[in-house]
Amino acid sequence: MSSDSAIGIHDLSFSTTEFVLPHTALAGHNGVEIGKYHLGIGQRSMSVAAADEDIVTLGATAAEPLIARHGTDRIRTVVFATESSIDQAKSAGVYVHSLLGLPSATRVVELKQACYGATAALQFAIGLVHRDPEQQVLVIASDISKYELDSPGEATQGAAAVAMLVGADPALVRVEGLSGLFTADVMDFWRPNYRESALVDGQESITAYLQAVEGTWKDYTEQGGRPLEEFSAFCYHQPFTKMAHKAHRHLLNTSGYDTDEGDIQRAIGQTTAYNAVVGNSYTASVYLGLAALVDQADDLTGRSIGFLSYGSGCVAEFFAGQVVPGYRDHLRTTEHREAIDRRRTLDYAAYRELHERSFPADGGDHPTPAQSTGPFRLAALRGHKRIYERR
Ligand code: HMG
Repeated sequence: MSSDSAIGIHDLSFSTTEFVLPHTALAGHNGVEIGKYHLGIGQRSMSVAAADEDIVTLGATAAEPLIARHGTDRIRTVVFATESSIDQAKSAGVYVHSLLGLPSATRVVELKQACYGATAALQFAIGLVHRDPEQQVLVIASDISKYELDSPGEATQGAAAVAMLVGADPALVRVEGLSGLFTADVMDFWRPNYRESALVDGQESITAYLQAVEGTWKDYTEQGGRPLEEFSAFCYHQPFTKMAHKAHRHLLNTSGYDTDEGDIQRAIGQTTAYNAVVGNSYTASVYLGLAALVDQADDLTGRSIGFLSYGSGCVAEFFAGQVVPGYRDHLRTTEHREAIDRRRTLDYAAYRELHERSFPADGGDHPTPAQSTGPFRLAALRGHKRIYERR
């Protein structure tokens, strides 16, 4: 195959949690003026995992519809991207492989580089499909973002999983081979192994993200990438939706364009609908942006979309995709809206209780309360092993 061969996202599905906390409830607790959340960071609500949900149940729930539609015959690789890993050794993807009944002749691996991991997974998947265009790769990005209670980051929590089937002659988006890359050793956001919640230098993280936008775009253009005006929309990593706005404004500024509010909205507006109500889903965030865009836009056939993936620490990548004719026949818009609308609203006290919950590390038998209603649940932690159930 030549490097121009059509490889990309053949199908995409996402899942989110059982519960949701509106930002009005958080503001009611901490006395913050709601405008700071709704306008200042651009968030309306955050997905909150039930006691029996985790990155595995979210990932399996996102991937199940892809398996139902396409079967397993061509899938020989599962790449699970996450930064809220549940085990230092075993890939969360192996649990998903088992829950979905995938064939034993499959390679499964977990990838990590903060929120950037899913884009690495997508690029690795494309490489594998290049080698053997008959194969498809199941990429799963699944994360639950957790910050300290009463910290500035708390309002940007969220959770979701995106599953993408990557293959030749994709039905949704063809991914171009040229990427702009950027890596810098910065301590803007990190989570040491002994912590459940992330540590963050908020303002430093915004600066690091904007420098990465500049760096990836510089590398992309130096390599002969498309000019900015050829893109119809931009899917940015969205830790909060206002960040996509800041990022695009920065891209326009550093590229010598006027920063017209209308232009920014046209470029990013439709990518923010799901992230604004789900919160930061880390690795899944860029692709939740893509889902929102294709689910809402009138017709994107043949249009170019820019993707900017950022992972703290930091690594970033900019690449382009083309929307494939006929893509609208393959969308899952109704299911995506249902995944968001079905969430049950928590009050602040119930959210706090879930936030503070963790498993004792004593190796005992710890069943989880049956709170979730999705197809998969984490039933218990028993003898240090996670026990999953399919409903
Ligand atoms: P903060 O410091 O409490 O908020 O937390 P602030 O004071 O900067 O206010 C936020 C915005 O609200 C400001 O707008 C205010 O003016 C505005 P801006 O100046 O930025 O345009 N505001 C109001 N607007 C309307 N009405 C009002 C009002 N009051 C204030 N009444 C911060 C903000 C982002 C620092 C915090 O939420 C945080 O620490 N978040 C976590 C870190 C983060 O998300 N960083 C983003 C870049 S790093 C990244 O994306 C990677 C990441 O996803 C992790 C990974 O890669 O794995 C995080």
